[in-house]
Amino acid sequence: MSRSVAPPRVVNIADLRRLAQRRLPRLAFDYIDGGADDEITLRENRRAFQTVTFRPRSAVATTGADLRTTVLGTALELPFLLAPVGSSRLFYPRGEIVAAKAAGDAGTAYILSTLSGCRLEDVRAATRGPAWYQLYLVGGRDVATAGIARAKAAGFSALVVTIDTAVAGQRERDVRNGVKELVSGSLWEKLPFVPQVLARPRWLAGFLADGGLMHFPNVMLPTGPMGYADVGAALAQSVVTWPDLRWIRDLWKGPIVVKGVHTSEDARQAIAAGAEAVVVSNHGGRQLDGVPATLRVLPEVLEAVNGRAEVLVDGGIRRGGDVAKALSLGARAVLVGRAYAYGLAAAGEEGVARAIEILRTDLVRTLKLLGCASTAALDRSYINIPNDWYAPVAPKPVGATVRA
Ligand SMILES: Cc1cc2nc3c(=O)[nH]c(=O)nc-3n(C[C@H](O)[C@H](O)[C@H](O)COP(=O)(O)O)c2cc1C
Repeated sequence: MSRSVAPPRVVNIADLRRLAQRRLPRLAFDYIDGGADDEITLRENRRAFQTVTFRPRSAVATTGADLRTTVLGTALELPFLLAPVGSSRLFYPRGEIVAAKAAGDAGTAYILSTLSGCRLEDVRAATRGPAWYQLYLVGGRDVATAGIARAKAAGFSALVVTIDTAVAGQRERDVRNGVKELVSGSLWEKLPFVPQVLARPRWLAGFLADGGLMHFPNVMLPTGPMGYADVGAALAQSVVTWPDLRWIRDLWKGPIVVKGVHTSEDARQAIAAGAEAVVVSNHGGRQLDGVPATLRVLPEVLEAVNGRAEVLVDGGIRRGGDVAKALSLGARAVLVGRAYAYGLAAAGEEGVARAIEILRTDLVRTLKLLGCASTAALDRSYINIPNDWYAPVAPKPVGATVRA
C-alpha cells in the first residue's frame, strides 16, 4: 500500500475525502461531494444509517467472516460494487480504467457510466472482475443502440438503466464554482473561476497530460464523441421511459438492472419491464432533493418486489457497518459511489483500492462483533429500526433468473 493512503494518514473514508479535497480544484471536489438544492436528501442518506442500530449476539465465536455473495448469477468476493460515477477521468488520469482495475483486483464489479471519459472497451479490458454498463439515452436511440452493441461486444455482463435523471439536478455548488463558464464560456467569463484550478498544480499537470477536458467516447454522435459542454442539454432530451425499457430489453437480451427506484410502484414497473434487479437509489442526493433516504425506502421496495428480482441499494455508504445495516434490512448487495470516488481523486488506483479495503475490513470486524459468520446470514434480527419507519419484513430476495 502506498504511504500516501496508508494509516495513520488514511484510517477511514473521511480521510480519503479530506485528501481528495486537498488534491482537487474546488469545482471538481464539489462535483463529487455535493448534492442537489439544499442537500437535504444527501444528508438524509447518511442520517438514516445513523438511526438504525445493531443488535449484536455477544459471546459467539465466529471463526471467519464470509463476505461472498452472488449478484445476477455472478459470484463476488464482496457484497458491495462500485457505482457508476460519471466524469471520473476529471478526478484522476484515466479514472474509469484505474477504478475498474481496483474493483476487479478486489473481487468485485465495476459499473461504468455512459458519461465516462474512457472508452468502454478499454475499461472492460482493464478489469479481471465483472463489469456492468450504465446506460443513459443521451444522443437518442440510435446513439444508445450503438453504445449497447459496443458494451455487449466488449463483454459487459449487465446493463444498468438509470431512470432518475429526467434532467440533471440543480447542484448549486457547481453553479457557484463556475462549471458552466469554465466548460463553455468565453475567456472573459472563465477568468474569475481560473484561480481555483491554478491552485492545484499537481492535479492540473495530470489533467493536461491526460488530454485536458474530456469528451465522452461512449456517446458517439454523427459529429464525433459528445463534448463536455453538451451533457446537460443531452440529459434533458434523453429521459428514459417505461416503453424505452421494453425496447432496451429486446435489444440487450442480457440482465437488466433498473437504477433510481424510490417507490414500490416503480419497483413493480421495473419488473414488468423485464428488470432482473433494481437499485433503490436517489443518485446520492444529486437529483430530486426532498426524497427520503434510500435506506428508508428499501423495506417498501423489498415488499413490492417480493423476491421476484434482486434488490440493491446505494446512497450514503461510508463504512462497512453501513453495508451490514443495508444487508440486514434485506438488500442483496450495495453500491458505493463517493466512498471510492474520494479514493480515486485522492490517489488514483491506490486510493480506490484503499477505499475498498477500508470497507472490507470494517465489514469483517462488524460481522465478528455482531457474532455473525457471513454477510449472507445477516437479517433483521441484527438491527433495530426506528419505530416510525414503514418496514414490513419482506422475504430475503431469491436470485433472479438470469436470461441467456
Ligand atoms: C460524482 C458522481 C457522478 C455520478 N454519475 C453517475 C452517472 O453517471 N450515472 C449514474 O447512474 N449515477 C451516477 N452517480 C450516482 C451513483 O451511481 C450513486 O447512485 C451514488 O453516488 C450513491 O451515493 P453515495 O455517493 O453516497 O455512495 C454519480 C454520483 C457521483 C457522486
